[in-house]
Amino acid sequence: MIDRMRINKRHETLDKTRLLGSHLTPVSIFQTYILPEIRPLLPDHNFMDLFCGEGNLILPMLDLLPRSERTDYFRKHIQMYDVDPEMVNKSIENAAEYGVDRKVLEDRIRVRDSILSYPEVRNPVKTVHITNPPYLYVGHIMKHAEASSHASYFIGKNEGYQDLYQLALINDLRHSIQKLVYVIPTNFLFADSASRKIRLDFLARYFISKCRLFESRIFQNTGVNVGIFEFVLDPKGQHSSIQFDAVQENQNLKVKRFTLDSSSGFRQKMNIDEIPLPDKVDRIKAKFYLTVDEVMSSGGNIDVTLVDSKHFSNGRYSRSTFSVDDRLHRKLLSNPLFVRTVDTGSPDGRAGLHDIREEFDADGIVVSGNTYRTNPIQLFIQPDITREQSMKLMHLFNNKLEKMRSESDSSFMTTYRYSSNPRYIRKYLGLKQVSTIISSFRLDDLS
Ligand SMILES: C[S@@+](CC[C@H](N)C(=O)[O-])C[C@H]1O[C@@H](n2cnc3c(N)ncnc32)[C@H](O)[C@@H]1O
Repeated sequence: MIDRMRINKRHETLDKTRLLGSHLTPVSIFQTYILPEIRPLLPDHNFMDLFCGEGNLILPMLDLLPRSERTDYFRKHIQMYDVDPEMVNKSIENAAEYGVDRKVLEDRIRVRDSILSYPEVRNPVKTVHITNPPYLYVGHIMKHAEASSHASYFIGKNEGYQDLYQLALINDLRHSIQKLVYVIPTNFLFADSASRKIRLDFLARYFISKCRLFESRIFQNTGVNVGIFEFVLDPKGQHSSIQFDAVQENQNLKVKRFTLDSSSGFRQKMNIDEIPLPDKVDRIKAKFYLTVDEVMSSGGNIDVTLVDSKHFSNGRYSRSTFSVDDRLHRKLLSNPLFVRTVDTGSPDGRAGLHDIREEFDADGIVVSGNTYRTNPIQLFIQPDITREQSMKLMHLFNNKLEKMRSESDSSFMTTYRYSSNPRYIRKYLGLKQVSTIISSFRLDDLS
């Protein structure tokens, strides 16, 4: 069991926000998007938030009741929990301002590790769980000592889930809670392995009755893309397909129909998954990175200028001259492109393939030590192609990528940096995606 004292002690030195995923939802989000949905349920439903923070997703509903009725309503209908005693105190203080009796508040708002120990819910059929649970990816938990106390959440029946928010969802399913309103990362819908298991288990039992996906930043301290999802338990038990309309909050509101099937992991196929590929033997293959080891071991006498992708200062990457052998020299000559994985934010700095000579006036891009996916990465193509063919590949690739981006609002790419103006939201293109697009071309296309 997680030792709360230990967590509390750790809080003093740790980034508590990160560890507990304490990104509080602005009250305005609740008032605009959630309150209208739950207003009709107020008289005969119970409401809880098992990760309540300061209470922003529950307390403002008290505005709908006369002050004199709030204490009684709270006693009968509301339950709130948080693992962090400070948050619980804040919730109690905030609720007291609505005029609710303190004794009732101290009974109904409690410190609890809701992931480890789910509270008793008397009437799950008439219960609505409204929450913005903590988000913390299991990979982060395993890698960082300060988060290691969370590792025990993911053992036993929770093995295979990938994030704290997924444990919150699956616990609600295990307790057959009728209706859920969750603020969670949109990777719940879009990611592949990072959310496949939760989708397969959870979406087989719940329908998505409302979905609003936000492109802009709604929390102060995190740039995670989130959505508000309303889930309803399937009265018949199980299903293998769901359909819903998602409102995409962008510069303009867009409504997109989703049809998700268990056979594809309840995941929306994205245009990148649907690119037709030539037979395996005919595919052009991409390799990435020129390592300093390869350069040093080539030991010839042809001088080349290489940019060092790890050293950036005064607005440019550092450059050095290396002596290489004929084989490596020819390899560099026939591979003049690099991958920019992240949009720079300017129109000519989009993610895609670019010309090393034009951009850096160099023969190649070398990387020393660990590779970084967001730095410029030299691309190597197999089989060998000429410089002219490389330039053709660059144009074909960038045109295809831009077409896919405009067709899908770049939803197959990860958001790297937010901006209130959607035109400047910077996106990240994965190397696997680069490989897929490259392998969709035939050698014939390049002549
Ligand atoms: C993303 S915040 C959301 C708070 C609130 N629901 C809101 O939207 O404003 C998540 C909250 O979950 C709490 N929390 C994290 N792990 C928890 C756990 N195991 N049990 C209960 N609460 C937890 C954090 O302290 C934090 O207040």
